Amino acid sequence: MAKYKLQINGRAYEADVEPDTPLLWVLRDNLGLVGTKYGCGIAQCGACTVHVNGNPMRSCVYPVSAAANATITTIEGLETNGKLHAVQQAWDKVDVAQCGYCQAGQIMTATAFLSKNPNPTEAEIETAMNGNICRCGTYHRIREAVALAAT
Ligand code: FES
Repeated sequence: MAKYKLQINGRAYEADVEPDTPLLWVLRDNLGLVGTKYGCGIAQCGACTVHVNGNPMRSCVYPVSAAANATITTIEGLETNGKLHAVQQAWDKVDVAQCGYCQAGQIMTATAFLSKNPNPTEAEIETAMNGNICRCGTYHRIREAVALAAT
């Protein structure tokens, strides 16, 4: 076990865990940030996506030891002063979610993408969101919401 200091959503946290513990489980089990979801555990579905230094990262395969000096953002950190992020607002407007399970990961991928490419083409949106799986098949609404958030 080792103590890790983590910067998450602008707050300092500490976790006493094994170095190879996936960040996902530290977020959920140690820190109570349960908005980040477990889907596959092998970096294939995107449900566990968070931002590490502004880049989308699959937290199910990202060891906590690598996260120690990073700036981490989870779905809980997107809101500012009680106001939802533009991507969350677009998600709400388009009514994207069906079961909702994959949506935090989808939104984290979309926000990281739009922060680097604020005026994407449809093809760029499709490519960017391609690795996030939705078992309900809400893909067309996801693409619509990303485009709406970009306008
Ligand atoms: Fe991490 Fe599926 S749970 S990619």
